[in-house]
Formats: sequence, C-alpha cells, structure tokens
Amino acid sequence: QTVDLELEAIEKGGYDHFMIKEIFEQPRSIHDCMRGRLDSSTGRLILGGLREYINKLVNADRIVIVACGTSWHAGLVAEYFFEEFCRIPVEVEYASEFRYRNPVIREGDVVIAISQSGETADTLAAIELAKSKGAIIFGVCNVVGSSIPRATHAGAYTHAGPEIGVASTKAFTAQLTVLNMIALSVAHKKGTITEQKYHEMLTEMENIPAKVETALKLNDQIKTIATEFKDSRNFLYLGRGYNFPVALEGALKLKEISYIHAEGYPAAEMKHGPIALIDAEMPVVFIATKDSSYEKVVSNIQEVKARKGRVISVVTEGDTIIPKMSDYVIEVPATIDSLMPLVSVVPLQLLSYHIAVMRGCNVDQPRNLAKSVTVE
Ligand code: G6P
Repeated sequence: QTVDLELEAIEKGGYDHFMIKEIFEQPRSIHDCMRGRLDSSTGRLILGGLREYINKLVNADRIVIVACGTSWHAGLVAEYFFEEFCRIPVEVEYASEFRYRNPVIREGDVVIAISQSGETADTLAAIELAKSKGAIIFGVCNVVGSSIPRATHAGAYTHAGPEIGVASTKAFTAQLTVLNMIALSVAHKKGTITEQKYHEMLTEMENIPAKVETALKLNDQIKTIATEFKDSRNFLYLGRGYNFPVALEGALKLKEISYIHAEGYPAAEMKHGPIALIDAEMPVVFIATKDSSYEKVVSNIQEVKARKGRVISVVTEGDTIIPKMSDYVIEVPATIDSLMPLVSVVPLQLLSYHIAVMRGCNVDQPRNLAKSVTVE
C-alpha cells in the first residue's frame, strides 16, 4: 500500500493530481506532437502514417468525423478548420448515434475517428460500420497499438504520452494539433490556401507551446477566481466560431470533475433559451478572444450584464473593451483564429480543476466516469 502510494507520488511528479500535471505538460506534449513532422523553416509537414492515403483526403467529397466526449469536441474544432482551409464539407458525429442510424456513406467520403484511448466501443463500432460501406478511415489516437489504430486504414498518433486523469486535457490539445497538421497538409496539396498562409500557419503552430506556457502562468489568478465561484450551482460557457467547441469543452470539464451543472452554447444561441436562466447567481464564462466573431460576442456579453449575470471573460491580451464589461478577466496570448482553441481551453481546464479541488472532489477519478468506455 505504502509502496503504491509512493509510486503514485513519483508518477505525479510533484503535482497533487495527474490532471494538473497533465495540464502543465501541454507545452511539451504539443511540441512532441509536432516534432519531426512540422518544420516551418523548410515548409515541411509530414505525417508518416498518412502519407500513403493523404490523397484520399485531398480528393474527399466529404469528411465525416466520429468521436465521443472530449474527442468529439476536438472534431468540432476540426470541422471549422477543414472547411476553412480545405474547402471540404465536414460532418461531426457522435459515434454512438452514427452507428445506429444507417448513415449515408458514399464513395469519396473519408471518415476520421478521434479517440484518446483508441478503445471507445462506440467509436470502434462506428469505424466498422463505415468500413463495411466502403469508406476510407483515418484514426487520430493517443494510445499506440490500441484497437482503433488497428481498425483504421491510416492514422496519426497524438503522442501526448499517457493521460491518467479521467478528464481529458493534454490529449485534447494534441488532437487539435494533429488535426490542424492534417488540414494544413491537405489544404497545401489541394491549393486551397496560399503559400503565404501555409507558411504563416506553420510558424504560428511552432509558437503555440510558448503561448500555452504563458496561459499556464494564469494559474494563480484562476485559482482566485475559482474561490469566488466554487459554490455556484450552475455555469454557462459561451463562445462563437472556433471558440464555440471550446465553450462545450470548458463546460464538460467542469461537469466531469466538480459535479457542477454547466452548459456550453454558441453565444448567439443564448437568446433561444439559456438567457432565461441568467440572474445575479449565474456565472457566465465567455471565451471572447479577438477573432472574426469578436464584435458579436461583445454584444452577447452586454446582454448578460443587462440581466446581472456574473461574467468571467477569456480575452486576448491587450483587449480594452471586454474587461470593462466583465467581473473577471483572463488574458491569453493572441494567435491565429484556428489555433486559438489550443490556448483558450487552458484557463478553462485550470478553472475546473481548482473548483473541483476546492469542493473536495476526486479530480483524477470522478464518480461514475471511466477513462475509456469499452462497453456501450
Ligand atoms: C470517456 C472519457 C472522456 C473521453 C471519452 C472519449 O468519457 O472520460 O475523457 O473524452 O471517453 O474517449 P476517447 O478515448 O475515445 O477519446
């Protein structure tokens, strides 16, 4: 028993929990994920496991992404950048729904399955179904040699290293990194992005680990915010564009480990329901970094403030407008819109972690949840 505990302490590398260790590992894991694959100085972008099949993606009529949980959120972000850069229509499906509804799969469709564990039963079944209909399947997985990579035609590992905390953190950012690399590589081959944009993207991807490092410096500030909100019973997370899936992920993290009810919504959908919930008791987390939806999000914040909601905003460094309207402001470094989720999710991971710890929850092994769901 004592030996086990000591071993665990060593594995946690000085951190109190695996989750916080894994959150702090992200600059490294994102870097590892790009290592040997991406080099902005030469314009090189090669994902070894995809090389043989990459043209299937270049020529795809449609991409269908299947996943569950946090991996599904990574798929939603990928939908936005595959469409933006590659001009290929994308559908993102819950694997559990896809597998049971006789989906239309045509020749020319490519399926991308995303899974940290590579063992999720629903995702595996969705792959088998799509395969039986003749689709080409790509996998984006973390656990090497797991079932999903073995069931797919081609794939790219996320190389985030073992993720022990049940709530996924570094695997999510590594998934985004790999999916971004795939999209850029396809867009470059297809000619749907300019040479200049391609190089700009590669360079900025290399800057991401340092930007995540900067975001991690917000830890103490976020801990203070957590003290204010740890007893809240509900939370709303709102974002638009690339930050909409981040809102979903922030809400999921909080639910999973702190057992506080939280919902993520596209900020503009607020007026179709959640706005009815807003009062002085309701914390609303806005992921409101400077991007093409910025002005719109500003008006959504005003709507919340007008109803006395308590606003916590994640903004781009140097923003002077949103801080004036928010109760709490978290500033993250600027980056290209499509890469922002890699940075903007970090404060949300930290917020959920600190709230859960303050509430005395078992952050690494929340009740009723499993790290990999190998049964239906
Ligand atoms: C479980 C885990 C989540 C994970 C989901 C999908 O619910 O608790 O963290 O996102 O399964 O798992 P996968 O391994 O397929 O990414």
